[in-house]
Order: sequence, then structure tokens, then C-alpha cells
Amino acid sequence: MKARFSFILLAGLLAMPLAAAESFAESKFMKSFRTSYEQNRFDALGFLVKTNKDIIPGEIRTLIGEARAADGFEKRMAILDLAATMAAMYAEWHGQDGSVDEIEALQKEELRKEEERKAELEKWKKYEAFPGNILMRDKAEASGMAPVIFPHWVHRVNFECKACHPALFEMKKTGSIGMAEIFGGNLCGKCHNGTTAFNAAESCDRCHSVGTPGEAHLLDPKKADVSKLRETSERLGTGLNLDLLPEKALPFDRFGNIDWALLDKARKPIKSLEGESGEKAGETRDNDILFESPLPYVNNVLFSHKTHSERVVCSSCHQAFFKDELGANSASMRDMAEGSSCGACHQKVAFKFADCNRCHSKPVTEDAGGALKRK
Ligand code: HEC
Ligand code: HEC
Ligand code: HEC
Ligand code: HEC
Ligand code: HEC
Ligand code: HEC
Repeated sequence: MKARFSFILLAGLLAMPLAAAESFAESKFMKSFRTSYEQNRFDALGFLVKTNKDIIPGEIRTLIGEARAADGFEKRMAILDLAATMAAMYAEWHGQDGSVDEIEALQKEELRKEEERKAELEKWKKYEAFPGNILMRDKAEASGMAPVIFPHWVHRVNFECKACHPALFEMKKTGSIGMAEIFGGNLCGKCHNGTTAFNAAESCDRCHSVGTPGEAHLLDPKKADVSKLRETSERLGTGLNLDLLPEKALPFDRFGNIDWALLDKARKPIKSLEGESGEKAGETRDNDILFESPLPYVNNVLFSHKTHSERVVCSSCHQAFFKDELGANSASMRDMAEGSSCGACHQKVAFKFADCNRCHSKPVTEDAGGALKRK
């Protein structure tokens, strides 16, 4: 890794004076052609091509070389467009020399590669489409294993956030989980040992599930086998009883996410692997905080310390996501979209931004009740 880095650095340093020299050497013709092209001055382009017959084939080769060396699809296509214009005009005035076809082939190749790159990205998106699903791909693929899907939702049925965070995992994607830790009884292996959950040594496919039939219910909990969920809950003593819910099934909100607040009426998730004696897991804070909206037509936001601290330990939020001081943190939808503030969890693992009024629940004209007002 280190060696590669310094190589890139070295190549960068070497390339710098070269690139500078190249742009210095750019011919007067090329400069005028570029400028006229950028200004859409086809009369000027025509004149330039008519009067520079001898040097144009060389200039086209230079552009093709430049396009090949350029970084990124957009840049390569921009240079190829310029080259294509030059070649087409040359063919028009002085006859075909083959470069029109060559450039067209290069453009097609670029488009094909770009389509492929986009399709590859699309292909992986579905694995993280359901909130809280995390695809763990790099290390698995490097050793020929199918990628792993970590489904937060399967685990949330029986465990509160604080059972895993921060004791076992940071609240962020690290890409640092591996089999040595798991077989050693740490991280996933803390539970996947045949006692709390299925044994990692016995069922590789249940975690390395990408491309197996087992991936279907992980990506879409509506396909979950409820009798299996009940079995696990019985073993762990978390009392899952969907009969207590209106639909007698896993409850979904209108955005297709599991409605966890409703599910709370039908189970008692485990808060600590160390038992309820885990003092940190038991600590809660019982107040509401009002985030006042800067706009008269947008409701204020009510934040419940109680419901959050029942799920999440203080130290997961303080000071990582918020300073524990009233009004000390900025909060805007832009921060959240970038994954900070409330967006550290919402949209990723907790309900999505689309559910506006679940957060913006207090009309600005309404009294704050007992909620603390931020100053
Ligand atoms: C409890 C879930 C789980 C089970 C079961 C599991 N793995 Fe993994 N495995 C992972 C995770 C998570 C990674 C990291 C994936 C990544 O980041 O690309 C991983 C990575 C790997 C890697 C890459 C090298 C490394 O250690 O990071 C290999 C090889 C591997 N697993 C083999 C196996 C085999 C063989 C089995 C069955 C005997 C198995 N795994 C069962 C979760 C699991
Ligand atoms: C069974 C254990 C477990 C439980 C329970 C759990 N998590 Fe996680 N969480 C993980 C793992 C594993 C990761 C990935 C860590 C890594 O990549 O090293 C993770 C990652 C995250 C991330 C980062 C996700 C991202 O897209 O960047 C957030 C946020 C998070 N968890 C929040 C929560 C919240 C909120 C809860 C409770 C509602 C919760 N977790 C419950 C295991 C758990
Ligand atoms: C706090 C305990 C705990 C931790 C930590 C944990 N799991 Fe699990 N996991 C469970 C339980 C319980 C189940 C339900 C299945 C069962 O009862 O065996 C489960 C189920 C799963 C499933 C669903 C399998 C299926 O076929 O439906 C996957 C996938 C999974 N875990 C992967 C992981 C990975 C990967 C990690 C680590 C990143 C991890 N788990 C960490 C307890 C845990
Ligand atoms: C989900 C994240 C989250 C969790 C968990 C959380 N807090 Fe907070 N806390 C906040 C936010 C948001 C504020 C408001 C900050 C602001 O006004 O800028 C806050 C404010 C505070 C304040 C100042 C206002 C007040 O309530 O007096 C204190 C003190 C505090 N938290 C302590 C705690 C303690 C102790 C715990 C654990 C029992 C805890 N918090 C758990 C998010 C959280
Ligand atoms: C997870 C909770 C949450 C959700 C969901 C949410 N917001 Fe917000 N929003 C906030 C908080 C916190 C603030 C900052 C305090 C305030 O201005 O009320 C805020 C601020 C705003 C603001 C003020 C200007 C700005 O951009 O910060 C607007 C407008 C807004 N939200 C609109 C929306 C709309 C529209 C939706 C639904 C698409 C939405 N919000 C969903 C929590 C949320
Ligand atoms: C550490 C993770 C985390 C952070 C940070 C966080 N939330 Fe939540 N929030 C949750 C979880 C988990 C739930 C349970 C519902 C779910 O998972 O969809 C929840 C539920 C809620 C609810 C539903 C009602 C309730 O109290 O149960 C509201 C409203 C809410 N959050 C607002 C906010 C606002 C506003 C912020 C930022 C000031 C925020 N949350 C920050 C994890 C978080």
C-alpha cells in the first residue's frame, strides 16, 4: 500500500513538468481551434482547417493521446469531442484519413465502459436499499467469498442498539471485520457461536449470502419467515408476539420501513450482552428538546431524550454526534443529508427523512409543553 502510494506520488511529480511543457508546446493552431470550438464559431473553425492541412493529422494524434491519458469519463469524452470535430472538418475539406472512424470507435468504447461502470454500481445498490442493510464486500471478494449482507433489522428484532454499540462496533462502516475476530469469539462472533445465534463455523452462506437464495428475505423483510423470528425470540427470551399488533405481522410504515416504535409494543429487545446489570445500558434521560424551526410554515422538531436513550447509550451521541449542551449544536437538513446531526442514524438505520412530520411534529403556533427550548 505504502509502496503504491509513493509510486503514485512520484508519477504525479514527474507528470507535472511534462504536462506543463506540453501545454506550452500547444501550437498556435490548436489554441485557436480550441477557443473557436468553445465559442461555437464554426466559420473560424472552417478557416483554420482549410489553411492548416499539413499539421492537422499530427494535431489529431496529439488529441487522441491526450484523451487516452486523461482522468475520468467526462474529460476523455470532452477531448474526444474536440478531436471528432477536427477530424470531421479535415475529412470535409481534405478527404478521409481514417481518423474519423478511429475516434468514433474510441467514443463508443468510452460509452460502453461508462455504462458498465454504472451497471456495476446499480447492481450493488439494492443490497443497501433497505435502511440499515450494510454490504461488506472488499475483503470477502478478495478471497473469493461471496460478499456479506449485515441486516440491522434482523438483529433489531431482538437487540437494542446499545447491545452492540459501542461495545462491539462503532456506529460507522469500518470495513475492518474479519474471520479471525469472528472465530475468536469477538465482533459478530460474540453471538454467532451456536449459543446466542447460529455458529459462524457451520453456516458460511447465511452471512456470505450475496447471490444465494437466502439473500431475498434479508433485502426485503416482508419476505421474512415469521416462525423463524419467533423461534429466535423464544430462545433469547425477548417475547416477540406479533399477535399484539393490529396486523398481526411485522409492522411497516408507509415508506416500507419497519415501524420500530409500533414493534416495541410486541417485544422486549435485549439492551446489553452483559445483562441488565450493565449500568450504562440502563441509564436514560427523561426530557424532550424542542428544535425551533426557522420558517413559519415548517413545524418545530421534538426530540425525545427518553426514547433515544432507551435505545442508544449516551456516549454514542455525546460527544460524537452532539455536544451535551442545550443549543450547542447546529442542525439543518443539509447537515443531515451529509450524514451528521440526526442524519448520523436517520436515513441510514432509523426511519428516513421522507417521513418529515414524524420529526417536524409540533406546529410553530403550539406551546412547547414541558420541552426544553434550545437557545
Ligand atoms: C456471522 C457472519 C459470518 C459467517 C457465518 C461467516 N463469515 Fe466470513 N466474513 C464475515 C464478514 C463480516 C467478513 C468481512 C467481509 C468484508 O468486509 O468484505 C468475512 C470475511 C471472510 C473472508 C475474507 C478474509 C477475512 O477474514 O476477512 C473469508 C475467507 C471468509 N469470510 C470465509 C468464511 C467461511 C469459510 C465461513 C464459514 C466457515 C464464513 N466466512 C462464515 C462474516 C461471516
Ligand atoms: C447486532 C449488532 C448491532 C445492533 C443491534 C445495531 N447495530 Fe449498528 N452496526 C452494527 C455493525 C456490525 C455495523 C458496521 C460496523 C463496521 O463496519 O465495523 C453497524 C453500523 C452502524 C451505523 C453506520 C451505518 C452507516 O451506513 O454508516 C449506524 C449509524 C448504526 N450502526 C446505528 C445503529 C442503531 C441506531 C441501532 C439501533 C437501532 C443499531 N445500529 C443496532 C451492528 C449493530
Ligand atoms: C448481539 C448478537 C449478535 C451479533 C453481535 C451479530 N449477530 Fe447476526 N444474528 C444474531 C441473531 C440472534 C440472529 C438470528 C438468527 C439466529 O437465531 O441464529 C442473527 C442473524 C443474522 C443473519 C440472518 C441470517 C438469516 O439467514 O436470516 C445474518 C446475515 C447475520 N446475523 C450476520 C451477522 C454479521 C455479519 C454480524 C457481524 C457484523 C452479526 N450478525 C453480529 C445475533 C447477532
Ligand atoms: C440520539 C442521540 C442522543 C442520545 C442517545 C443522548 N442524547 Fe443527550 N442530547 C442529544 C441532543 C440532540 C441534545 C440537544 C443538543 C442541542 O440542543 O444542541 C442533547 C442534549 C443533552 C444535554 C443538555 C440538555 C439537557 O437535557 O439537559 C445533556 C445534559 C445530555 N444531552 C445528556 C445526555 C445523557 C446523560 C444521555 C444518556 C442517558 C444522553 N444525553 C443521550 C442527543 C442525544
Ligand atoms: C430525523 C428528523 C427529521 C426529519 C425526518 C426531517 N427533518 Fe427537517 N429538520 C430536522 C431538524 C432537527 C431541523 C433543525 C431544526 C429546525 O429547523 O426545526 C430541521 C430543519 C428543517 C428545515 C429548516 C431549514 C433547513 O434546511 O434546515 C426545513 C425546511 C425542513 N427541516 C424540512 C424538512 C422536510 C421537508 C422533511 C421531509 C422531507 C424533513 N425536514 C424531515 C429534523 C428532521
Ligand atoms: C444514534 C442514532 C440516532 C440519532 C443520532 C437520532 N436518532 Fe431519532 N431515532 C433513532 C432510532 C433508532 C429511532 C427508532 C425508530 C426507527 O429506528 O426508525 C428513532 C426515533 C426517532 C423519532 C420517533 C419518535 C421517538 O421518539 O421514538 C423521532 C421523532 C426522532 N427519532 C427524531 C430525531 C431527531 C430530531 C434527531 C436529531 C436531533 C435524532 N432523532 C437523532 C436513532 C437516532
